[in-house]
Amino acid sequence: MWSSALRQRNDIAQIPLAQLTTWRIGGMADVLTLSNEQDIPEVMAQSEHHFLGKGANLLVSDAPLRKPVIRLDRRFASSEWVAPGLLRVGAAHDLAVLVGRCCREGWGGLQGLAGVPASIGGALRMNAGTAHAWILDVVERVQVVVPGAGQLQWLHRSELTPVYRSAGLPPGTWLLACELRLHRADPEELLAHMRQCKQAKAASQPLAQASAGCVFKNPQPDLPAGKLIDSLGLKGRSCGAAVVSTQHANFIINTGGATAAQVARLIRHVRAVAKQQADIDLQMEVQVWEMDDQWFAPQRGDEVPPQEEDDHVR
Ligand code: EPU
Repeated sequence: MWSSALRQRNDIAQIPLAQLTTWRIGGMADVLTLSNEQDIPEVMAQSEHHFLGKGANLLVSDAPLRKPVIRLDRRFASSEWVAPGLLRVGAAHDLAVLVGRCCREGWGGLQGLAGVPASIGGALRMNAGTAHAWILDVVERVQVVVPGAGQLQWLHRSELTPVYRSAGLPPGTWLLACELRLHRADPEELLAHMRQCKQAKAASQPLAQASAGCVFKNPQPDLPAGKLIDSLGLKGRSCGAAVVSTQHANFIINTGGATAAQVARLIRHVRAVAKQQADIDLQMEVQVWEMDDQWFAPQRGDEVPPQEEDDHVR
């Protein structure tokens, strides 16, 4: 699939994606770790592929993946000031590390994102954030490769149409870097704000357990999915090792060896109960790789709590 020159310049290995996702779920895949910009056009042109960030918002099929997985190595994790208050950051940079550094150095803008697990690229793609801050609020430009274009280009913030949990870019777009507009602020205040965000998260979310964060989008700003699922009495509901968190009902945790099939069955159950009892259609927030719609389409009996043997749906 790849040219020998590309193979020589980049690392290619078979890796179980369970090792590269925070849910600790996912089958074996060919993983190409890209180490230079030169090879981007070949990779973009040659094949269908998946693009992996920190794997923090992903449900990956248990079966070996058909498409190769591309990720960026640490050469895409640089950060540099390109003008006063304008920080250019590579997509592979860890968001949490960046938030901590900016707060310590007295640069405000990112403190509200403290505790969000993501690479910069993943955070941009998902317009990651909390109830109070979205990353695209502080983005001035993003560097992307759009499918079909093959070449790197910078897009200004005004060319994006960010919404809740999406940067509004065409599917398959690679994000390689961004420029963040930050402002001078008191480091003590920034660090206090950062600590507050982290404490609030730790108090309400099961951070020590394997998960992909919130599974469903909030159906309405004033109706959080977690509150709804909680009110339906679904905390602790399980399918195999996949369990609706007793701490935050919009999290499904992997208590050890859960499969994507078990998670899918549990998702269908939660959706069926939400539909039946509250007439609400819950939409998934997590991205899904190589599990077709059938895994998540409503089926007869979904409203019945899953059984151990229900860990497959087809
Ligand atoms: N709630 C319950 N029961 C629960 C969970 C929540 O009653 O089991 C209630 C809370 O008490 C609160 C309300 O629901 O009154 C909202 O809960 P929370 O403050 O936890 O916010 P959220 O809307 O559930 C959103 C984001 C999170 C982000 C938090 C904090 C979504 C889907 N989720 O959660 O993002 O960390 O705000 O700002 O937008 C993620 O995207 O993966 C994620 C975890």
